[in-house]
Amino acid sequence: MKSSTQVGIVGAGPAGLLLSHLLHRAGIDSVIVEVRERAYVEQRIRAGVLEQGTVDILEETGLGERMHRQGLLHHGIFLRFGGRSRRIDFNELAGKSVMVYGQHEVVKDLIAARLAAGGDIRFGASEVEVEGVTTARPSIRFRDADGVAQEIACDYIAGCDGFHGICRPLIPSDVLRIYERVYPFSWLGILAESPPVSEELIYTNHERGFALVSMRSPTISRLYLQCSAGDDVAEWSDERFWNELRARLGGEDVPDVVEGPVLQKGITPMRSFVAEPMRWGSLFLAGDAAHIVPPTGAKGMNLAVSDVRVLAAAFAEHYANGSDAGLDAYSETCLRRVWKTQRFSWWMTSMLHRFPERSEFDARLQLGELDYVTSSHAAAQTLAENYVGLPMN
Ligand code: FAD
Ligand code: DHB
Repeated sequence: MKSSTQVGIVGAGPAGLLLSHLLHRAGIDSVIVEVRERAYVEQRIRAGVLEQGTVDILEETGLGERMHRQGLLHHGIFLRFGGRSRRIDFNELAGKSVMVYGQHEVVKDLIAARLAAGGDIRFGASEVEVEGVTTARPSIRFRDADGVAQEIACDYIAGCDGFHGICRPLIPSDVLRIYERVYPFSWLGILAESPPVSEELIYTNHERGFALVSMRSPTISRLYLQCSAGDDVAEWSDERFWNELRARLGGEDVPDVVEGPVLQKGITPMRSFVAEPMRWGSLFLAGDAAHIVPPTGAKGMNLAVSDVRVLAAAFAEHYANGSDAGLDAYSETCLRRVWKTQRFSWWMTSMLHRFPERSEFDARLQLGELDYVTSSHAAAQTLAENYVGLPMN
């Protein structure tokens, strides 16, 4: 079956869904093609921290109601090292806060809003292919959930299909430049039915490795431990996880860990990755399709949001008055914020984790840096202004 739209979007993660929502508000038609089922996308546990700019855009575009009811406003975080916690006060240092609200909740809100507005999301697609991105009429071909062959002719394609998607490889290898760092450790994350360990997030540097305590609600904790790059979840029993978390949170004023049933457990490899350019012909990459940050700075989803904000504004300008200035500047505009955010995520990762190849000297330097960051107003402010989010492009 053949159909057409203005912007064909590959992927219904935060990037694809928010882009479709923003385009709709600008009177631009889009279709989203997603390989997964709706329930899978809505239950995928990932990011948890929204920058204030992300909160603002969701609120301004009619998606704030449940977020404000269920999300948890956080005015600071703790950095824990040498067995003690020191607070970074975002309100005082940067005049902003962050919102703890699960990515899957944002995704649910976006899907509900798109469907209520008559939006077209093709869940459960297979054999997805994008063609003709250097021609005047690119298209997306796929089989729909019933196995029927579909072809959507588009003016433009938005590649919002994440790190393992099909869009980035459409850019010829002599054009595409990849900048990458793979870290020698991963994050083991659990979702547990247990009250938050602390009212605010605690990022811990410990000789046994990094630990992070976060939450999803007053009864659900989200907890992470640095583990070895090759670890398998099967090696991490619940008991081993809780014991290791307690060990890494040890010292003075030990946070209160209350064990509860583990609802989900997974391992995430850590990498920094940027693909340039983010545009090729009529293909525009956004979010994880173009870049990955290690999760220590809580930036991945927020970067996806800032990309599509720029892209939606550029499409609006194109369709409203025929100007391609925004589309032509898209890659360069986004990459400036991407690299600043890469720097912050790399810095947080470097300061807080144990690197197997590093020496005791390096470990002491980390402690010196953490002491500096939590005692110098200027240094604390640098962390705070990055964590709450640099200005949107
Ligand atoms: P994705 O969410 O990956 O969405 C891509 C979509 O495309 C998926 O639905 C996928 O099924 C679909 N797709 C793939 N291939 C195809 C295809 N061929 N055809 C059609 N569809 C396809 N970020 C933060 O901002 N804050 C945090 O606190 C944070 N913590 C994190 C913790 C963990 C453990 C992890 C794993 C990530 C975290 N992130 C965080 C990162 C964040 O989750 C990602 O950056 C975010 O999901 C990017 O959104 P996206 O829409 O670009 O990509
Ligand atoms: C969460 C994830 C992060 O990567 C982070 O830096 C802070 C919080 C979370 O899932 O809650």
